[in-house]
Amino acid sequence: GKKGDLAGCRVVVTAGGTQEPIDPVRYVGNRSSGKMGYALAEEARDRGAHVVLISGPVSLPVPYGVELRRVETAAQMQAAVFSAVTNADVLIMSAAVADFRPAHPASQKIKKRLGGGRGAGEGENTGEQATDGSFSLHLIKNPDILGELAQMQDLPRRLVRVGFAAETENVVENAKDKLHRKQLDLLVANDVTRSDSGFGTNTNKVTLFHANGVMEDLPVMPKTGVAAAIWDRVVSLLS
Ligand code: C5P
Repeated sequence: GKKGDLAGCRVVVTAGGTQEPIDPVRYVGNRSSGKMGYALAEEARDRGAHVVLISGPVSLPVPYGVELRRVETAAQMQAAVFSAVTNADVLIMSAAVADFRPAHPASQKIKKRLGGGRGAGEGENTGEQATDGSFSLHLIKNPDILGELAQMQDLPRRLVRVGFAAETENVVENAKDKLHRKQLDLLVANDVTRSDSGFGTNTNKVTLFHANGVMEDLPVMPKTGVAAAIWDRVVSLLS
């Protein structure tokens, strides 16, 4: 039965979006609600797994019976993931990790001001105020957590890896490319163009891409149902 089919298993789930500081009061973020990741963590807990939930800032209740580790930035999420996977059997990255972050967060609130000059940032290149009053923010690349994990060959045990993809075009092509590039066992492609799927909704419409080439189109389901379907596939991979 499903109830105990993850008993003795150590799983790591990431959820929510990261927030990349611009200055003490502002950040670059995204619309991830964390609902899919929290549903995955709760489903794994109900099936008997030991769950580490690494979460960006979300407005969801803390689930009982899971080990919650709160992070804000992609760098913090990477450190938490790398530390947690060393003794895990499964990693599901459902978090929406920001691809870019401000180059150097300013230590003081950036002021709007007349005339040209640098944005605050300890003389660093965080942003630039132009003479016309516009302000350009300089973003640099964040680490790709799954991508860097794919390069790590020295994990003490086999780690089943599941990634998510929110695509708006060329879904199949991009999903297959991501599956191979990030060396995933399963990629969950989210249809974010529908109003009943993707960010913030309670339902989701996903397509599963397996490493062996199998593709499964799932119907629109509550995120809890999608979570159950994903763990069913992971349980097969573990046995
Ligand atoms: O390349 P893309 O961002 O579309 O890949 C999405 C998948 O990769 C998700 O599982 C996401 O959690 C993960 N990811 C990551 N590190 C990043 C960006 C995305 O691990 N910097």
